[in-house]
Amino acid sequence: MPSPVDLSSPALLGVIVDGLSRPFKELPARVLYDETGSQIFEQITRLPEYYPTEAERSLLTESAGRIFSMSSARTLVEFGAGVQDKTRLLIEAGSAHGSLSCYQPIDISAQVLLQSAEIMHESYPALDVQPVVGDFMSRIALPDSPHPRLTCFLGGTIGNLQRAERIDFLARMTEMTGVDGFVLVGTDLLKDIERILRAYDDSAGVTEAFLLNVVDVINAECKTEL
Ligand SMILES: C[S@@+](CC[C@H](N)C(=O)[O-])C[C@H]1O[C@@H](n2cnc3c(N)ncnc32)[C@H](O)[C@@H]1O
Repeated sequence: MPSPVDLSSPALLGVIVDGLSRPFKELPARVLYDETGSQIFEQITRLPEYYPTEAERSLLTESAGRIFSMSSARTLVEFGAGVQDKTRLLIEAGSAHGSLSCYQPIDISAQVLLQSAEIMHESYPALDVQPVVGDFMSRIALPDSPHPRLTCFLGGTIGNLQRAERIDFLARMTEMTGVDGFVLVGTDLLKDIERILRAYDDSAGVTEAFLLNVVDVINAECKTEL
């Protein structure tokens, strides 16, 4: 596997101070995903109440073959790739179809990205795995890779973006995809509010720990900046 491309943006402190100085406080989702946060998120995806992961997995199981028949993608680009677990379904479908030769996972959380990309490289030695450490909220210059590209954004992460951010993100995503490529976005639909509340406020308190970890991330960021 080649050395990863590191396009991560500089310190977060300015963004944190700006977000917490607004009348309606907000923080970028990337503060949730330091190494500890990424590990806790993994636990969340295995909670019985957290339905999105299994729902997306079953959709991909059903549709990955069709996605490659339609796209004949040679490169799979994945935003916010994390542990790249469900991505295996796409990679296996792309390999079975015979078109896929390159996988470019992008994530701000370097450690998780690089460990997972190494595992992917070992699992699929014929695949050119090119991890990119980067912030998908800004423009990312990907290394050259064969077209057509399939760019995907799974896990409902698009739901973490505000409307204006989503519009900018999707514009960058389609530009990176190119005119001959395809875009795949996983997102939740409207459903029973109780089900959503249980998924995002689980009885074991794992989501609570995930959110409280943000305080540690902010404290660490403040110390780094001083
Ligand atoms: C909800 S998780 C989804 C992980 C995986 N794709 C899945 O479907 O389970 C969001 C992922 O996006 C990454 N992420 C969050 N903000 C990011 C940003 N601004 N730039 C790049 N990656 C980001 C996190 O590190 C995390 O791996």
